[in-house]
Amino acid sequence: MFDLIAKNATLPDGQTGMDIACKDGKIAAIEAGITAEAKDVIDAGGNLVSPPFIDPHFHMDATLSLGRPRMNVSGTLLEGIALWGELKPVQTVDEIVERAMRYCDLAVSKGMGAIRSHVDTCDDTLKGVEALLEVRDKVKDYLDLQLVAFPQDGLLRSPTALENTKRALDLGVDVVGGIPHFERTMADGAQSVRISCELAAERGLMVDVHCDESDDPLSRHIETLAYETQRLGLQGRVTGSHLTSMHSMDNYYVSKLIPLILEAGVHAIPNPLINIMLQGRHDSYPKRRGQTRVPELRDAGVTVGFGSDCMMDPWYSLGKADMLDVAFMGLHVAQLSSRADMAWCFDAVTVNSAQIMGLEGYGVETGCNANFVLLQAKDKIEAIRLRAHRLAVVRQGKIIARSQPVKTELLTGDAARSLDEAQTAT
Ligand code: FE2
Repeated sequence: MFDLIAKNATLPDGQTGMDIACKDGKIAAIEAGITAEAKDVIDAGGNLVSPPFIDPHFHMDATLSLGRPRMNVSGTLLEGIALWGELKPVQTVDEIVERAMRYCDLAVSKGMGAIRSHVDTCDDTLKGVEALLEVRDKVKDYLDLQLVAFPQDGLLRSPTALENTKRALDLGVDVVGGIPHFERTMADGAQSVRISCELAAERGLMVDVHCDESDDPLSRHIETLAYETQRLGLQGRVTGSHLTSMHSMDNYYVSKLIPLILEAGVHAIPNPLINIMLQGRHDSYPKRRGQTRVPELRDAGVTVGFGSDCMMDPWYSLGKADMLDVAFMGLHVAQLSSRADMAWCFDAVTVNSAQIMGLEGYGVETGCNANFVLLQAKDKIEAIRLRAHRLAVVRQGKIIARSQPVKTELLTGDAARSLDEAQTAT
C-alpha cells in the first residue's frame, strides 16, 4: 500500500504515461501502469510533474513591505537601499514574521520547495535574523528555508556589520553573504570578499555574495570571489549573485574571467526580473539590459540558477512568488529561444538552483524525496509559455496544495464552450 500515486504523468525528461508512487516521504517507484493500492491518488492527466521550484535568491525580510514607509520614486537600486534603511528601524519582529509567513503560503501554492533568503545583518537588533529564524522553523515541514547573513550596508562600510554578521551566523544563519560593490572602494570590496570567504572556511559554510550588482564595466569582485574560493578550497560552495557588471565588461577580459569562475567552481545566480528593472538606469539610449552573460556562463560549464530576488518591496513593486515568471523573463532577456535553451530555463528554476543550494534528495526519481508539482502543461516549454497553473503540490508524499484546472467558458459564436489555455496550441 503506497501513500500516494500520481497516475499518468509526463516526467521532466519527456517520458509520458508514468505513475509515480510515494511511500514514507520518498518516491518508491516510477513506472507505467502501477496497479498497487494507495491511500491517495492524483490523476495527472498526462500533464508535467516537476520537482519543486527553487528560489535561490530572495529577500524575505523585506517582502510585502511595498509602500512602507514610502514608495521608491526613482526606481533605482540605490533609492531602494535608502528606503529599506528607513523601514528597518521602524518595523517589528512580529511584522516581519507575519509578512514572511504570508509570502511562504503564496510560494508553496506556486510549487516552491526551497528558498535561499538573504537577511540583513546591518541592524544591531538583528530583528530580521530573529524573525526569519523563527519563520525557518515554522515552515520546515513544507518549505526549506536557507538563510544568508547579508550585510546590506557593507560588511566594512557599516561600522557594526561584521560583528553583527558573525552574531547572525552564531545564531544559526546558514550562509555567509556580502556586497562588495557597495563598499567604499574597490579595495574594501576585495577585502570584504576575503573576509566573507574566510568566515565560511572557518565555519564550514557556503558563501553567497551580492557581487558586482552594477553597470560598472570595471567592477572586479567576481574575479576576487573566484580567487578566494580557490585559495581557501571552497570549490562548489560559493555563489556570485547578480554579476550584472559582467554584462558591461570588456569582452577580452570576460574571456579570461569565465574560465576562472569555472575553475573555482563558483555558481552564478542572475535575478532576471530585478536585473532588467534596475540595471541600465543611468543609460540614455541604447540602454543596457544588465543581465549577466547567462548562455556564456552555462556553456562554459558554470552552474546557473535564476532567482526572484524581490516581491513588493523597496526594489520591486510586482511579483507573485512564481518562478515561471522568473524563467520567462530570464529566457527573453538572454534571448534563450531555441527549444533546448527554453527547456534549460526551466532547469534554471529547478535542478540548477537545487544544486546551488546543496539540496539533497531532490528530483522526480526513485529514492528521491516525494516532493513534486503537477502543472497544467505538457512539458517544460509549455510550462514557461503559460506560466502554467499548479494543479497539485506534493511534499513528503502528501498533497499540500491543490486547485482546479483553469478553464474559461466562452460564450461567443453559436455554442458555449470551454477553453483550456493549455490546449489551444495542440
Ligand atoms: Fe538580492
